[in-house]
Amino acid sequence: MAMTVILPSEPPAFVETDVAARLDAIVDGAGTAAAAFRALDQEAVDAIVHAMVVAGVRHAVELAELAMEETGFGVFEDKVIKNYVATEFLYDHLRDKRTVGVIEEDRERLLSYVAEPIGVVLALLPITNPTSTALFKAIVAAKTRNAVVFRPSARAARCAERAIDIVRTAGEAAGLPPGALQVVPDATLDVSQYLFHHDGVDFIWTTGGPKAVRATNEAGKPCVGVGPGNAPVYVHRSADVAMAVMDVLISKTFDASVICPAEQTLVVDDAVHDDLVAELVRMGARLLTEAEVDALAAIAFEADGRMRIEALGQSCPALAALAGIRLDDGTKVLLAPLPSDLPALADHPLVREKLMPVLGIVRSPSVEHAIDACVLVTEHGGLGHTSAVYAEDAEVIGRFAEAIRTGRILVNAPTAVGALGGVYNELAPTFSLGCGTWGGSTTTANVNYRELLNVKVVSRRQSPPQWFRVPPATFFNTGALGALREAGAARVLLVTDADTEARGVPDEVRSLLAPAAVHVFADVEPEPGEAAIRAGAERLAAMDADLVVAVGGGSVIDAAKVMRLLSEHPELTVPELALPFLDPRKRIARFPQDPHRARLIAVPTTAGTGSEVSPAAVLTVGGAKLTLVDYSLVPDQAIVEPRLTATMPPALTADTGVDALTHALEAYVSIFASPYSDALCLQAVRMILDALPRAFAHGDDLAARTQMANGATIAGLAFANAFVGVNHALAHAVGARFGIAHGRANALFLPQVLRYNAAIPTKFMPAPGYGAYVVPAKYAEMARILGLGESCDELFAGVDALLGELGMPRTAAEAGIDEGSYRAAVPELAMAAFADLSLRTNPRMPLVAELRDLLESVQRRV
Ligand SMILES: NC(=O)c1ccc[n+]([C@@H]2O[C@H](COP(=O)([O-])OP(=O)(O)OC[C@H]3O[C@@H](n4cnc5c(N)ncnc54)[C@H](O)[C@@H]3O)[C@@H](O)[C@H]2O)c1
Ligand SMILES: [Fe+2]
Repeated sequence: MAMTVILPSEPPAFVETDVAARLDAIVDGAGTAAAAFRALDQEAVDAIVHAMVVAGVRHAVELAELAMEETGFGVFEDKVIKNYVATEFLYDHLRDKRTVGVIEEDRERLLSYVAEPIGVVLALLPITNPTSTALFKAIVAAKTRNAVVFRPSARAARCAERAIDIVRTAGEAAGLPPGALQVVPDATLDVSQYLFHHDGVDFIWTTGGPKAVRATNEAGKPCVGVGPGNAPVYVHRSADVAMAVMDVLISKTFDASVICPAEQTLVVDDAVHDDLVAELVRMGARLLTEAEVDALAAIAFEADGRMRIEALGQSCPALAALAGIRLDDGTKVLLAPLPSDLPALADHPLVREKLMPVLGIVRSPSVEHAIDACVLVTEHGGLGHTSAVYAEDAEVIGRFAEAIRTGRILVNAPTAVGALGGVYNELAPTFSLGCGTWGGSTTTANVNYRELLNVKVVSRRQSPPQWFRVPPATFFNTGALGALREAGAARVLLVTDADTEARGVPDEVRSLLAPAAVHVFADVEPEPGEAAIRAGAERLAAMDADLVVAVGGGSVIDAAKVMRLLSEHPELTVPELALPFLDPRKRIARFPQDPHRARLIAVPTTAGTGSEVSPAAVLTVGGAKLTLVDYSLVPDQAIVEPRLTATMPPALTADTGVDALTHALEAYVSIFASPYSDALCLQAVRMILDALPRAFAHGDDLAARTQMANGATIAGLAFANAFVGVNHALAHAVGARFGIAHGRANALFLPQVLRYNAAIPTKFMPAPGYGAYVVPAKYAEMARILGLGESCDELFAGVDALLGELGMPRTAAEAGIDEGSYRAAVPELAMAAFADLSLRTNPRMPLVAELRDLLESVQRRV
């Protein structure tokens, strides 16, 4: 608030040795009190606060008298009200607040907030509200267990000292540590500077003019400094004019306007201007002539623009006498017409803060002009402080609130009485109105107890909640395809690839879907790209299918998932959906979650990818594999018909089978692994180790095919929830670069990756769900459960043996990759693998150098 001791910013001042010793003793005493205060509990603190408040209320009148006597301005009755706001209203706000120990608990997020005091607070008091601000700061400090060293305004030191004395005596009787409330009344700037830079002062809380705020900020300590205001008030034509007039008169006359949020300039719509002036005059305002405005400006301000102390807080008759203006008795406010022209308004001396019952008034031709004029007023000393708008039109209120840069914007309420909080609104009661960075404050808040606390947060470890999401229905075993008879669709798009079409599978499907109209889209290529998918999506949209049946390997099913999405949302692009993420729960890419127009039934013809139950779709874009992951991609039904896999040649059986095995082995140790996915991984690995050699050697062994088909889907259910790991990252990179089938590329790295993950990591992956680095123990457990042995080595040996039996390549050369090209590509492949999403859930954090090592390990036989 304006007008306080003037504190030019200076380096730490020299004070006489004896003065320094006295100040040191005061600060030391405050420090001792603060330490004692910190030991008190909430109950003890509340008892002290209650005692202080009661004493403040009892002395509200006496303190108002003292302030009047000492400062010689303001209105006695209003000063009494201010003292009540600083005690009774403040107490009402504070009584149920916790300020000691745990003050807030967020049980869902496992966070506890614990309040601590700051320590020693240096509090500067203004001349405008010397007793109320003293009471307010003392009570808030006690509530927060802080000790305060007060620096009153030199022109209002005695009444402030008396206020502190009253609450200190009452507080100490209730247990307030001695030394917690002290006053340094010395009027010199050197003393202020000495205290500003004192090591024992932890925080500075200033209420004062711009210089005091600047000096506070320059002291280099944590602080809240609040400064002057210059509140504009916009009265829109939709306003209740009579109410606006009442409010403004109540508020502008409050303590003769020596309060920083007071109304300073009314900006009034042309349409209601004359009515408003007439009503103001009827209620006791006096409209000044141009000459009278000039005369008033001359006595109110010095040539340099500073307010004259003789005018501060004076009554209308007193001001009129100074300015040589004749007045009727009982004039409440002097109304000074100011120019509508904005540059002229900016130059007018009365555009500034007038801590006296003088109110500027501007006639405004439009909403736009009015808002500009209000902004202009704030730019003359009122930025960050307070403003008001009177309007019923919500749009106008919105525009005003958006344009104006003040911490408080009061709607249809008086500013002086309103900004203090608790009378016309639910703002926190305060005598410390934050002005934001515009006004040199760290806050725009109605400063209260929160700003005087150090709040610690105790954050308990939290394993985020997990999920298990699968398609609504999965049909399996021989004959499962018959479930298509129940599909009940009218228009079906059958998505497949040329090979599958050539094998005649679509015809069988078509016969089961009769009498639906079935269109076939057979243009999916292996490792599908965006172009074919877009074409399929257009086809799907054009025929307005109500069912999509994807029949084929992972490539077909993945393509169909994305086709359905793009047919419903052609505006989406694959790269934006494939935006990388660190945690799937926090990722930026948003998949539409509206219900699909067409159902999707996935019918795998390979026993490998698990795509029929997974939320993933892998596409090849620009030579790289991109993974789209979202549960909206999960098919509505999976039909796992083993018969359809019987036509796979041995190499394809091996490739796809190893893909499924890799899914189960990676999901089992993923950082998202859960007991739900673990159960599925164990069963999938058991079934695949057992059946894959037979399915490979005897393609027509339907029992082996059935076990493989089910094993692959079970592995899919696991990794659909736990995801995979670094093996897939490497396989994606190498597969895309050298055109190696996905399962085969997995096989190339699997032996090394199993051992890599079972070793002690160089770098751990942050994984709240993991209690310890469990990979070796989990793989050993798997070995035991599957009857392979007691340690992970036996499991790995079993996997090695299987890969050998399937004739899987063990080196890049064996996979048909030119050795020279491979060697040259390693750095690039390492970066591609590092960028792959699969890596995010690997149990250990693969360093790029380690990825390079893993890639290089397949240059030779290990
Ligand atoms: N979405 C996922 O969750 C997921 C998981 C792992 C892999 N993938 C992706 O799946 C793709 C690999 O799928 P895939 O391994 O099933 O191979 P694929 O779909 O690419 O098919 C490979 C070839 O085998 C043929 N084929 C399929 N079934 C056959 C059968 N029964 N008899 C004879 N030939 C048959 C196909 O016509 C094709 O020519 C890769 O793009 C991979 O990245 C996806
Ligand atoms: Fe895979």
